[in-house]
Amino acid sequence: VTIQIASHREAPIPAPAVRELYDEEGWWPERSTTDIEAVLESGPAVGAWDGQQLVGFARAVTDGRFRAYAEDVTVRASHRGSRCSVRLLDHLHSELSPVELVSLFCHKDVVALYREAGYAFTEQEVGHWRRPS
Ligand SMILES: CC(C)(COP(=O)(O)OP(=O)(O)OC[C@H]1O[C@@H](n2cnc3c(N)ncnc32)[C@H](O)[C@@H]1OP(=O)(O)O)[C@@H](O)C(=O)NCCC(=O)NCCS
Repeated sequence: VTIQIASHREAPIPAPAVRELYDEEGWWPERSTTDIEAVLESGPAVGAWDGQQLVGFARAVTDGRFRAYAEDVTVRASHRGSRCSVRLLDHLHSELSPVELVSLFCHKDVVALYREAGYAFTEQEVGHWRRPS
């Protein structure tokens, strides 16, 4: 299978396709396609395509100059095993130019994979503030 990587600018990513990838992982049940559409317009995003099917996704939150955070890196289970996530991140990094530092939060199990994509890991603690609902 040939998987093509393209940014949201190059090949628009439909929000319902992202919703499907989230559903496959059980991620963010509360995110509506309307919210996802708004997020897709707010910052760089990249898709992995098997023909017309979206099989992978990654996006970033950024100030456009100095810092960015990669989010939502995911590849459909049927299309894993060929480092598609590394290609998604490479493409996301190009989209993010001239940002000099991209950070991400991840589970220990995927550290080796992100090292392959060029990430160095530090001893920093990660803090999260959550808006009370
Ligand atoms: C993480 C993910 C994007 C990688 O997909 P991919 O680019 O196709 O990666 P590959 O399958 O080619 O390779 C993944 C490597 O990391 C390992 N890996 C990935 N996820 C893992 C996990 N959850 N637990 C253990 N190992 C994992 C694999 O064993 C493999 O290593 P190996 O080839 O040396 O055995 C994909 O597994 C995925 O979508 N997972 C669910 C969502 C997720 O956890 N995203 C990361 C959020 S931080």
